[in-house]
Amino acid sequence: MACRKKAGLPRVIEILDVSKRYAAGAHAALHGLSLAIAEGEFLALIGPSGCGKTTTLGLINRLVEPSQGTVRIGGRDIAASDPAALRRGIGYVFQEAGLFPHLTVAGNIAVTPRLLGWDPALTLSRVMELLALVKLDPERFADRMPHELSGGQRQRVALARALAARPPILLLDEPFGALDPLTRDEVAQDVKRIHGELGLTTVMVTHDMTEALLLADRIAVMRDGHLVQLGTPRELVAHPADDFVSSMLETPRRRAAALAAALA
Ligand SMILES: Nc1ncnc2c1ncn2[C@@H]1O[C@H](COP(=O)(O)OP(=O)(O)OP(=O)(O)O)[C@@H](O)[C@H]1O
Ligand SMILES: [Mg+2]
Repeated sequence: MACRKKAGLPRVIEILDVSKRYAAGAHAALHGLSLAIAEGEFLALIGPSGCGKTTTLGLINRLVEPSQGTVRIGGRDIAASDPAALRRGIGYVFQEAGLFPHLTVAGNIAVTPRLLGWDPALTLSRVMELLALVKLDPERFADRMPHELSGGQRQRVALARALAARPPILLLDEPFGALDPLTRDEVAQDVKRIHGELGLTTVMVTHDMTEALLLADRIAVMRDGHLVQLGTPRELVAHPADDFVSSMLETPRRRAAALAAALA
C-alpha cells in the first residue's frame, strides 16, 4: 500500500544506464545499470559479494564516478554538482561504522555541523537530540570514546553522525553486518523507524534477504554488475525473475516454514 502511494512521487534518485570500470581493461563492476528511487522510499540493494552494491551506493554521492551513464538527484545531473555540497545532503553509514577513534561520541556526531560552522550551542543540542533518536542515553554516551562502545552502539553513533546535518537521503552499506542477530534486529527496526519519522529516502545494502524483505519497500537484486530484479517484497516472493532470485529467497522461505511449524 505504502509503495503504491509512493509510486506517484518524484524519482528523487535516478541511475541511468550507468557502467563502471575501475581501470581500463578491467572487468566492469556495473553494466548499464538503471534504477530509480522514489522520494520517501526504503530500497534494499542485495546480491553476492563483488556484484557491485557498494559501487552503486557510491554513485549516489560521487564516491564513485560513472564510466558511462548519468546519475540524477532531484532531476539534476550530479556530475555538475560540487561533491562536498552534494554529500551534505546525503548521510552515509559505512560497512564498518568508521567512527573517528580519537573523537568522543559527541565529537563524532558533531563533525559535519562543525564543518558547516554551526553555532556550538546549536551543535550540542543537535548531538543530544540525535543520541536520543538512536536510543543512546546522552548522559552515559556523549563523552565515551568509540572503543568503549559495543558494535551495535557504534553503529547507532554512525547513524546519528550520518543524520547530523538533516540530509534528506540516507545511504547505508551493510550497517548491521557485524552485529549479533538480536542487536541486528533492534538496530534495523530503529533505522526503519527513523526512516519513517524523518521522511528519508533510504538506500541500504544488505547480504540478508530476510532483512531486505522485512525492511524495504522495494528490493533491487544484483548479480555481476547487473540488476536482475527490482520489486516489492511481495512481487519478488510471488514472481522471482529467475532461479538466482529464487535461490536467494530459499533461506527466508525455509526460516518462515520452520518458524510456522515450531509455533503450530
Ligand atoms: N576502488 C576499486 N578499484 C578497483 N576495483 C574495485 C574497486 N572497488 C570495487 N572494485 C571491484 O568492483 C567490483 C564490485 O565491487 P563492490 O565493492 O561494488 O561489490 P559489493 O557488491 O559491494 O561486494 P561486498 O558484498 O563484498 O561488499 C568487484 O569486482 C571489486 O573488486
Ligand atoms: Mg560492499
